[in-house]
Amino acid sequence: MRIVLLGAPGAGKGTQCKRIAARFGLLHLSSGDILRQERSQETELGKKAQSYMDSGGLVPDEVIVEMMAGAISNAPLSGFVLDGFPRTVNQAAELDKSLSRAGQKIDAVLNLEVDDDAVAKRITGRRSCPECGAVYHIENLKPKVDGKCDNNDAELVQRPDDTLEVVKNRLENYYQQTRPVVDYYNANSQVCNIDSNRDVDEVTKLVIEKLESFASV
Ligand code: AP5
Repeated sequence: MRIVLLGAPGAGKGTQCKRIAARFGLLHLSSGDILRQERSQETELGKKAQSYMDSGGLVPDEVIVEMMAGAISNAPLSGFVLDGFPRTVNQAAELDKSLSRAGQKIDAVLNLEVDDDAVAKRITGRRSCPECGAVYHIENLKPKVDGKCDNNDAELVQRPDDTLEVVKNRLENYYQQTRPVVDYYNANSQVCNIDSNRDVDEVTKLVIEKLESFASV
């Protein structure tokens, strides 16, 4: 299966993609995680992306398209779930072109819908593990021990772009540049909307049920 998960910042894309990948044996490809890894390794790509990410802007399409095409080409035959990509109509069209060259296509597009006022709370309360990437929330998804990762006891950290000011920019960019990607996929009746205002496990149930119905067709 080749799946795209769309949604505003903080909609729960990363949280749900990890669960989808585990359930269906897919590769989880998060453009944000790949960029953060490039930054921590101080690569040229990471340096190029830094200022865009810190201000909540989008990294230029040509950089992202090349980066994600490389990641997708290493995906297993079972497939992948894309998180944070495509984020512009141009990225979506380039993705379709490169999959089509390989005789492939996107099988399912899920759009996580969340209210704007929930976004700020989710993002400012997010904490993640710098070692294994596990994501928590100070109220909604607490670790067993306050401030420590359940998997390895590492000290949880807050992303530098998870401040209220940057969230405002990220949301503005979402409405201007990423929301039109939903219409792009809707033109082929590919989008399934999921209510992501519900609690995490309820959203997972909806997402998995939907994908199981696609898989059984
Ligand atoms: P990226 O890392 O992709 O950030 P984002 O899209 O803003 O998404 P988030 O990671 O903030 O949220 P999420 O939807 O994954 O939510 P999560 O599951 O963590 O991108 C970062 C930056 O990189 C961009 O701003 C841009 O600069 C650049 N970039 C990346 N991709 C790009 C591209 N394609 N083109 C150009 N630039 C690109 O959940 C959030 C919190 O809420 C967590 O604490 C979680 O525990 C909690 N939570 C999750 N679900 C629920 C729920 N149902 N109820 C309550 N709490 C919940």
